[in-house]
Amino acid sequence: MITDTAVSAMLAREEALFRQRNPNSAARADSGSRHWLNGVPMLWMSDWGTPFPLIMDKAQGATLTDIDGNSYADFCLGDTGAMFGHTPEPVVKAIAAQVARGTTTMLPSSDAAVVGELLADRFGLPYWQVTATASDANRAILRWCRAVTGRSRVLVFNRCYHGAVEDTFVTLKDGKVITSPSLVGEVRDLPLHTRMIEFNDLAALEQALADETVACVLAEPVMTNVGMVLPDPGYHDALRDLTRRTGTLLVIDETHCLSSGPGGYTKAEGLEPDAIVLGKPVAGGVPTSVYGVSEEFGQRIRDYLGRREQLGFSGIGTTLSGSALQMAAMRAMLENYFTESSFAPLIELARRLEGGIARLIEKHAAPWHVVRVGARVEFMCTPDRPRNGGEAYDMIHKPVDVAVHHYLLNRGVLITPFHNMMLICPVTTEADVNALLEGLDSCLAELGSPA
Ligand SMILES: Cc1ncc(COP(=O)(O)O)c(C=O)c1O
Repeated sequence: MITDTAVSAMLAREEALFRQRNPNSAARADSGSRHWLNGVPMLWMSDWGTPFPLIMDKAQGATLTDIDGNSYADFCLGDTGAMFGHTPEPVVKAIAAQVARGTTTMLPSSDAAVVGELLADRFGLPYWQVTATASDANRAILRWCRAVTGRSRVLVFNRCYHGAVEDTFVTLKDGKVITSPSLVGEVRDLPLHTRMIEFNDLAALEQALADETVACVLAEPVMTNVGMVLPDPGYHDALRDLTRRTGTLLVIDETHCLSSGPGGYTKAEGLEPDAIVLGKPVAGGVPTSVYGVSEEFGQRIRDYLGRREQLGFSGIGTTLSGSALQMAAMRAMLENYFTESSFAPLIELARRLEGGIARLIEKHAAPWHVVRVGARVEFMCTPDRPRNGGEAYDMIHKPVDVAVHHYLLNRGVLITPFHNMMLICPVTTEADVNALLEGLDSCLAELGSPA
């Protein structure tokens, strides 16, 4: 049994220890806060729950070092942006070479043809486009879906996250779709054009698609942004079947689930989407995302463009997308890391981590559980597996998460903030995994012992 008293006692002590270990970060965070809006270059950098953000000195391999000289086994890996490790050598070399030859020209570089081939080969879809972020890729694909179907609505799942894509910022409240209260500065009535249901609810899906006004379903194959929610057996087959029957396009957002293998969850599980979005690590941390479409979807896009009088000003695309720098970095990543042989050891080590956490949960009789998708592992501080985003959201117990995160940080282990996600990269070692398991072991021993 883990009591609130044990959690608050741990958090108070660990916060004090955090301040003591990080005097330089405290001072630098304080002076940095003078000119950054809300104190940090990016708002969510202050959302870690720590008294102040740690200021990083360097990130190499699977290790972060802060400006107080503390080092961390990094299981967050830039929330997937560095999923193949920080500073992967082939990418460092490719970027350095490309920078010397020019970063961006608004024309294809000689790597473009090779990257197109590699994407088609790895992910099984023939036509691709590049953006700077996965948010942009999702926005673009929603537009194409609406354009070619002539339908205005999109469908997403409760508590999904697909980046800063306005259309997806709705939520279910008492069974009704509302604009997410957290969304800043939105003036449109988003539920007019976005339908939302719970993941794994086939009856709701059938009903939501029945009137054939939905352009596309946008889905993560496993929900990974509200803890982790696995699809029920057969759910993806039914999703594909229902979308096909109603003329609804199916877009799979692989930004996180590409931890499943070199062709993402889609290849690993034999999904047949009309489009795929791949974000974050595809260019080793150089801001890049891509989306790919099927033969048929590609033809519909070409037909649509053929019917337009004015080309250009499509509202799709940004200046630095498709740059020579992105292409060089992507080529190095796809050639060196998006391979079966590169993924196999990651998945094996992730399995070990999952097994180790499961054993600790049993040893301490903790009311927690652990799940995994490829090289991505998540423990949730609740005994039952959620079946959908609504259940997962209600289960996430913030104070215990924050206490555990502080405890691990103070012992040189960093996991993803907001929930308990851990990624294995090619240079994560057994020793890193053991450090995480030892940290969790002593943390659980303390949380579970009577005061
Ligand atoms: C599934 C998914 N899609 C898209 C995004 C957006 O990625 P970006 O912030 O790089 O635009 C995220 C970010 O976490 C994500 O988890």
